[in-house]
Amino acid sequence: MKTTTIAEVNQYVGQQVTIGAWLANKRSSGKIVFLQLRDGTGFIQGVVEKANVSEEVFQRAKTLTQETSLYVTGTVRIDERSPFGYELSVADLQVIQEAVDYPITPKEHGVEFLMDHRHLWLRSRRQHAIMKIRNEIIRATYEFFNDRGFVKVDAPILTGSAPEGTTELFHTKYFDEDAYLSQSGQLYMEAAAMALGKVFSFGPTFRAEKSKTRRHLIEFWMVEPEMAFYEFEDNLRLQEEYVSYLVQSVLERCRLELGRLGRDVSKLELVKPPFPRLTYDEAIKLLHEKGLTDIEWGDDFGAPHETAIAESFDKPVFITHYPTSLKPFYMQPDPNRPDVVLCADLIAPEGYGEIIGGSERIHDYELLKRRLEEHHLPLEAYEWYLDLRKYGSVPHSGFGLGLERTVAWICGVEHVRETIPFPRLLNRLYP
Ligand code: 4AD
Ligand code: MG
Repeated sequence: MKTTTIAEVNQYVGQQVTIGAWLANKRSSGKIVFLQLRDGTGFIQGVVEKANVSEEVFQRAKTLTQETSLYVTGTVRIDERSPFGYELSVADLQVIQEAVDYPITPKEHGVEFLMDHRHLWLRSRRQHAIMKIRNEIIRATYEFFNDRGFVKVDAPILTGSAPEGTTELFHTKYFDEDAYLSQSGQLYMEAAAMALGKVFSFGPTFRAEKSKTRRHLIEFWMVEPEMAFYEFEDNLRLQEEYVSYLVQSVLERCRLELGRLGRDVSKLELVKPPFPRLTYDEAIKLLHEKGLTDIEWGDDFGAPHETAIAESFDKPVFITHYPTSLKPFYMQPDPNRPDVVLCADLIAPEGYGEIIGGSERIHDYELLKRRLEEHHLPLEAYEWYLDLRKYGSVPHSGFGLGLERTVAWICGVEHVRETIPFPRLLNRLYP
């Protein structure tokens, strides 16, 4: 008898196997019990027929409760009606632990109840599918950058500097000093790019943003590539290739999961380079043409503006050349027009908002110092960062992709709270 997993039963068609599993759901009709089994690697239906098992095993099957853990022994059969393709014709069942009164029943529950039980909610088919797609996006990220000669570099979490402005910092004490939880690994990636050429980091980042929207988390994960000798244009080309790679990898490897989420894959299939581009000026014009007149040159886009812009395209769209006043201190001004910077935000289709922010970086020492001063940032904390412009400074660019917003878009789920195992939200630190 072979012990295996649900993901691997396809290797044992016609053979008897044993699987360690949990009972997700159950349905019985007289002489037959259908067990919906899950083992983390997948979901499979176990069929217990009264005629094929002992009376004792049949009774046990009939009385199994949701989330009971058990060993199931049975013969693997092809099942054309199931999207998974296989079922288990059960011969024996051994209960490991009986679960009593599992709180998440197959009926509908409210979001707050589910969020309070996030540690259990993760076991559901829907959450399983989202986590598998999240994992595929992470896997494809490492593959994409490793294949292109990037080095993964880890940025610190405890920092003394604030790349994205000082209003959203999580403050903490670092013995006698003040410290902040990282908002972005970018500044450290710039140092690493000067040492290793093309680098990327992937880590948690923190924003004490009092925003309660479907796109905002307090703790989220960011992929941050940084490339020496890359100018604005090179940066955009890399981004469209990377995002297309993510989408195509998920389409290739997560069909079952996308199906389980009811995702319209025809929309994802269109995501291939090149992506459309609009300057900030053109975006403002487009919004005015669409009747959104509450915004003027110099204002930042809110969610309704991003959604209205995205609606005009069936692929992610770059918005480039934002006003300098709207963006962080490190962005390179356009040499032909210093009131705008060489930056781009990538807006996902279907209302998912900004998934990437990136730019060419200032590489001139004097200009960078001036910009730090204009932003009232303490020069002592940025001395090391200025050093990068003192010793062999070169043009360089990079970007940050928000993992959870990308997962939300690719999965087609409404809110980022379902895209991270244990979301940290404005009003939630539990579980
Ligand atoms: O646009 P942001 O703030 O850019 C940076 O932090 C740059 N330093 C990145 C870089 O160039 N290396 O954030 C980048 C992305 C956003 O486009 C968004 O996808 C995501 O991070 N993001 C959030 N995701 C969830 N919740 C939040 N509160 C987020 N804030 C930003
Ligand atoms: Mg941004």
